[in-house]
Amino acid sequence: MSTGLNFQLDNRLRLCADFVRDGAKLADIGTDHAYLPVWLCRIGKCPSAIAADINPKPLKMGMNTIIDADMSDRVQTRLSDGLKKIESDEADDIVIAGMGGELIANILEECDFAKNSSKHFILQPMTKSEFLIKWLCDNGYEIIKQDCCVAAKKCYTVLLVKYTGEITARDEIFYYLARLSPQNNETHHRFVKGHIERLIKQSNGDVHFSVLANRLKEIINDND
Ligand SMILES: C[S@@+](CC[C@H](N)C(=O)[O-])C[C@H]1O[C@@H](n2cnc3c(N)ncnc32)[C@H](O)[C@@H]1O
Repeated sequence: MSTGLNFQLDNRLRLCADFVRDGAKLADIGTDHAYLPVWLCRIGKCPSAIAADINPKPLKMGMNTIIDADMSDRVQTRLSDGLKKIESDEADDIVIAGMGGELIANILEECDFAKNSSKHFILQPMTKSEFLIKWLCDNGYEIIKQDCCVAAKKCYTVLLVKYTGEITARDEIFYYLARLSPQNNETHHRFVKGHIERLIKQSNGDVHFSVLANRLKEIINDND
């Protein structure tokens, strides 16, 4: 697709973009270069977007992307810690990508309107996705969709979630698998293999982690 932009989204941001609803007002939290909001407004999927970041330096970069793309009428920048400076009626879909799972959970916890079930959150944890998924289950969020992709040879997962208020008790293994189908999907398989490798490293002296790793190996039919 030709967007006329001088950048392209990599597979990781592209997967986040795919999870955004057509016509949704967007907030991109931790936007850095603002590629995602500019791209989504340029292709016409979002009518408007807020590119938010806690640090002024990335926001300045984001501002340059917006100006270069001539999108100042559709995309605005906002200095904000998480969603603290975003009003509920300013965004339907909120992307929080490229941060650790714990920070993403913390941002949701501190957001006044996260429990509005009409809001969709698209979450892309760089680390500790299992922590984030447990937090979501314990705090009444439903995982609507989850997928994985490979970008620059690394495997990432993206979650689409919304608040329902239903708290679900889960077996611990769920936090490593959630909505993935590692038996049928090569990229999901690769992502779960990454969990197994980390669990094996962690298991040094702690049998709990090696039991989890072995359970995951059985699930993905990994005989190594
Ligand atoms: C690695 S970049 C990710 C950029 C982009 N979202 C992506 O996925 O490519 C992380 C960005 O999050 C910002 N950030 C970190 N903590 C934040 C917070 N509490 N609220 C908003 N932005 C934050 C950082 O300043 C940085 O620009």
